[in-house]
Amino acid sequence: MTELLAATPENIARAAEVLKHGGLVAFPTETVYGLGANALDAKAVTGIFTAKERPSADPLIVHLARVEQVPLVARSVPETAYRLMQAFWPGPLTLILPKQPAVPDLVTSSLETVAVRVPNHPIALALLHETGLPIAAPSANRFGHTSPTTALHVWHDLRGRIDLILDGGSATIGVESTVLDISTTPARILRPGGVTREMLEAVIGPVTVLGQKRKAEPGLPSPGLLEKHYAPRAEMILFVGEHARDALRACLAEQGRVRKVGVLAADEEAGALEQAGAVVYRLGSDLNSIARHIYAGMRWLDGQGVDLILCRDYGESGLGLAVRDRLMRAASRIQSAE
Ligand code: TXA
Ligand code: MG
Repeated sequence: MTELLAATPENIARAAEVLKHGGLVAFPTETVYGLGANALDAKAVTGIFTAKERPSADPLIVHLARVEQVPLVARSVPETAYRLMQAFWPGPLTLILPKQPAVPDLVTSSLETVAVRVPNHPIALALLHETGLPIAAPSANRFGHTSPTTALHVWHDLRGRIDLILDGGSATIGVESTVLDISTTPARILRPGGVTREMLEAVIGPVTVLGQKRKAEPGLPSPGLLEKHYAPRAEMILFVGEHARDALRACLAEQGRVRKVGVLAADEEAGALEQAGAVVYRLGSDLNSIARHIYAGMRWLDGQGVDLILCRDYGESGLGLAVRDRLMRAASRIQSAE
């Protein structure tokens, strides 16, 4: 039985008890909802992998209430890390640090490093304070699904598999934290997210971004065989390049005759796309809003029963890089329109 509870102080206290006794609790963070377990309890952490059907080769992020707890899970903390923590914690930045032996291998997939962050969300912080424990928490979705940005998304994916869901409304950032490896010079973004490359560079100088493995295919779509992550149920095509908007509209005109087509669109493009017959999910008109709505939009279009989802790229500055990363992983194929 899974309880879905409003995040009142009483229910947060109850959730903390569940975590202390080895249970599983989904809770809101500023990025997406997390599925938490006591990071120092290997049995509890096993439950996360089972509930999500997540392969154990994929390591988890450990969440802390405050910077002073970092030595609980990290063996050493370089000076750069402290500067970044001071600048961005609490917040959507995950740092990769040398692991403390007390952290079970399951949390880190036997790596010598551990991923750590202090989230910037009053409910997450209250829960973390109340337990006093480091809490391992991946996004609270079934493996391969899009990350949940509301308690209802978690309910759809994990009901019956976890103990409790704390409902704290919609996540404000909407894409996951930035994962940063500071063991190299320059530091390397392993996953773009809520703290942008520009924000990091303002504090520690040049930062590189781990290359996207997926490449755009020129010309007409052909069945994609590429690995998908964070994906909606429907087939999804991402248009990139200067003429992405035109290519998307051409595809809608053609596919709309034979299939029910959904589009994730910026507000200013929505009206015309609706007139052209698409089911449109409005993402808003700036990158903050687009990031906040991207996962909810994929879930909503799936719920509308569309056969095909079309979307376009929003560039690589600021949050655009994280949005691009998630769209590339979600897309069945990526079509370039230079
Ligand atoms: O915003 C977020 O980060 C959310 C919320 C709940 O905090 N959590 C989240 O967790 O997105 P998850 O498990 O879905 O993603 C964790 C990412 C994965 O890409 C994983 O490979 C990476 O962090 N990661 C974890 N430990 C690592 C390590 N030791 N070295 C390199 N990457 C690591
Ligand atoms: Mg995830």
